[in-house]
Amino acid sequence: MTQTRKKALAHEEPAGFGSKTPFPRYFSTELGCMYLGDSLSFLRNQVADATVDLIVTSPPFGLVRKKGYGNVDADRYVEWFRPFGEQFRRVLKPNGSLVLDIGGSWNPGQPTRSLYHFELLLMLCRDAGFHLAQDFIWWNPAKLPTPAEWVTVRRIRIKDAVDYIWWLSPSPWPRADNRRVLAPYSESMQVLLKNGYRAKLRPSGHDISEKFAVDNGAAIPPNLLAIPNTESNSYYLRYCREHELKPHPARFPAELPEYFVRLLTDPGDFVLDPFAGSCVTGEVAERLGRRWLCSELVEEYLQGAQARFSPEARKQTQTVLFPGSGLAKNERTSYRVFHPAALWNSVDHGCLPQDGGRKRRHISEPKSDAK
Ligand SMILES: C[S@@+](CC[C@H](N)C(=O)[O-])C[C@H]1O[C@@H](n2cnc3c(N)ncnc32)[C@H](O)[C@@H]1O
Repeated sequence: MTQTRKKALAHEEPAGFGSKTPFPRYFSTELGCMYLGDSLSFLRNQVADATVDLIVTSPPFGLVRKKGYGNVDADRYVEWFRPFGEQFRRVLKPNGSLVLDIGGSWNPGQPTRSLYHFELLLMLCRDAGFHLAQDFIWWNPAKLPTPAEWVTVRRIRIKDAVDYIWWLSPSPWPRADNRRVLAPYSESMQVLLKNGYRAKLRPSGHDISEKFAVDNGAAIPPNLLAIPNTESNSYYLRYCREHELKPHPARFPAELPEYFVRLLTDPGDFVLDPFAGSCVTGEVAERLGRRWLCSELVEEYLQGAQARFSPEARKQTQTVLFPGSGLAKNERTSYRVFHPAALWNSVDHGCLPQDGGRKRRHISEPKSDAK
């Protein structure tokens, strides 16, 4: 048994363990383990205090339209989550991090948004002892325009295409290094680096020095993560199809946990995903040499998840490097963000609805020859 594996076992069976029924391991690898069962009792019984470096997870959201695995209503969400928050705080090392991917939700029957994900954040910071290290937005350019009634039928709301990512930590000083997640320079920055930059005071008051034009090989990325969730022909999906398993209906793309595993942990550190689903986090942690634990309620999801760890699957998920720099590359995230507020197809649809769209109107679509 390797040194790393011994350490992982020490986490699974902390001091004081023994009187309670151990959770059966569903599947294990050199670096990690999947457990089947309720993660709250898994955490309470199996994970010792202050042992985890990073929890990165996507809990069930407080959705109106529920997924197959069940979702808690937005108005009960914070109380449902509270004991998880307490356990997360207990098992994290003081300089560790909790990264929560959480989508917003609409209020039932009306075109307004629930505040549940903001209330969750407040509860975690005010009651559970976390600090908000930083908030991120995950933009999924492939999201469909829903709810159709508000977005495509009455045309009174905009496509909701982002999730919120709350990066929380027990201390204001979690371990992190942004040089692990640098991005390629934008075209305009490349021009500036080539032509040089004259130091000056910007209208905003920022005093930009000549150091701004030093080529560091790559840029510090913004807290906007553009990742399309479009997996359609992966080894995981093919395995599910071949074995007549239902693929998990709400998987996050591997780039999401990968970003935070790189930013917030070192090789050999311990990563946990308590709402594991198809175990994307475990797959990423294994590939990056981090120890990991995943727990999940639904056995069928773990049956499919095992496929992620086969040698064939691993061949297909190797990280591609940005040429010459050793940086992770993901060309698929090079999206254009257009300047907002223009009527791009030049078709004027008349006055705004006085009733805010309460009554369904007939919406005329532009003729196909409209310029
Ligand atoms: C949004 S999904 C996570 C998907 C996952 N990130 C992936 O990419 O496959 C949330 C998962 O949490 C699981 N879950 C809900 N309550 C749980 C609990 N108490 N213990 C363990 N898993 C739970 C659900 O079955 C569901 O698979």
